[in-house]
Amino acid sequence: MSERTQVGIVGAGPAGLLLAHLLHRAGIESIVIETRTRAEVEGTIRAGVLEQGTVDMLTEAGVGERLHREAFFHRGVYLRFNGETHHIDMQELTGGKRVTVYAQHEVIKDLVKARLDAKGDVRFGVADVKLEGIDSSRPAIVFTQDGEAKRIECDFIAGCDGSHSMSRHSIPPGVLTRHDRVYPFGWFGISVEAPPSSDELIYASHDRGFALVSTRAPMLQRLYLQCDPNDKVGNWSDDRIWTELRKRLETKDGWVLEEGPIVQKIIVGMRSVVVEPMRHGRLFLAGDAAHVVPPTGAKGLNLAAADVRVLARAFDAFYRRGDEAGLEGYSATCLRRVWKGQRFSWWMTTMLHRADTDTSFDRKRQLAELDYLTTSRAAMTSLAENYVGLPFDDR
Ligand code: FAD
Ligand code: PHB
Repeated sequence: MSERTQVGIVGAGPAGLLLAHLLHRAGIESIVIETRTRAEVEGTIRAGVLEQGTVDMLTEAGVGERLHREAFFHRGVYLRFNGETHHIDMQELTGGKRVTVYAQHEVIKDLVKARLDAKGDVRFGVADVKLEGIDSSRPAIVFTQDGEAKRIECDFIAGCDGSHSMSRHSIPPGVLTRHDRVYPFGWFGISVEAPPSSDELIYASHDRGFALVSTRAPMLQRLYLQCDPNDKVGNWSDDRIWTELRKRLETKDGWVLEEGPIVQKIIVGMRSVVVEPMRHGRLFLAGDAAHVVPPTGAKGLNLAAADVRVLARAFDAFYRRGDEAGLEGYSATCLRRVWKGQRFSWWMTTMLHRADTDTSFDRKRQLAELDYLTTSRAAMTSLAENYVGLPFDDR
């Protein structure tokens, strides 16, 4: 049986759920289609850091209540190298913007709850999702739900289905240009039941490679260390992980890494990808479906949120006034921010990680860059304004 909606949304990640919520607030109907179960979507541990603009957007959209109660708000971050720790006071450098640590899956839980409370239509656990007629004025999403074939006719489709995006693959060959870079390292991420080792995040550059100290809750810490992207979790005993983290995070001032039971281990690869344009016919790509960044700059979730902010406003102008300018400009507007996010993520990644092919020249250059960054107010301000989030173009 065929159903109808105004905007069909593929994917219930941050991009898809936030878009559905913003559209609902603008009086626009949507249906979200998701292949995973609600428990899987709400249980995937990924990003941790929100830009000030993302926090403001969630707050203005009425889904910031728990965030304001439970998130950690930091003034800045620490950069650690040569055994010394340097504080970058982002709040002071940016006139009041803060670093918010609130896990992606908590954002997801808040958005799912908001959708369900508003009787929003989110279909979890569907299969065989395909798009039809994206070049026509009546595109459709087809899928199976509980073994039954379904079809939803839409005015528009938003492809918010992440980096492997089926939506993106539905676009005919030759339309999209893909720009990408694969990095020769990955991140080994662990969750640890321990109190915080630091009051703010620590990004550490060491001769042995990068390490990051982050947090999730008062007794749950999140730590990362640079590793071979093809390595296996099983090659890393708890002892080996702690030995490596202690070395990479060592200081001359007696700082101690708090240790505890490791409750999760994961290896993630790192790459930068952009596809252009982010629209084809009646299909609009948003979030990781259109662009992926290495996690070092903490930009992925924030870029996804910025995309759907632009898209929700464009749909609002279209349905309210028949104004298509926002939809026409969607791709170009988003890509300006996306490329700045790509530049920043690439810069943070190459400044802090060590590649096997790096020479002593590269290492000395990295250390000079970190020295400059932690002693020049101009350089610190540049880091700070990118990290807490560049202003939205249309404000
Ligand atoms: P996703 O979160 O991937 O959501 C896509 C959804 O679509 C998924 O639920 C998927 O199941 C669903 N789907 C896929 N295919 C289909 C289909 N065919 N039909 C229907 N549904 C489908 N970003 C930050 O901003 N800050 C950070 O600190 C940060 N840290 C990170 C740390 C790690 C270790 C990793 C891996 C990522 C990190 N990121 C960070 C990136 C961030 O997690 C992503 O950019 C973000 O999840 C993108 O959201 P999205 O909604 O576009 O895609
Ligand atoms: C995290 O807490 O997972 C996190 C923090 C900062 C990053 C990436 C990930 O740059």
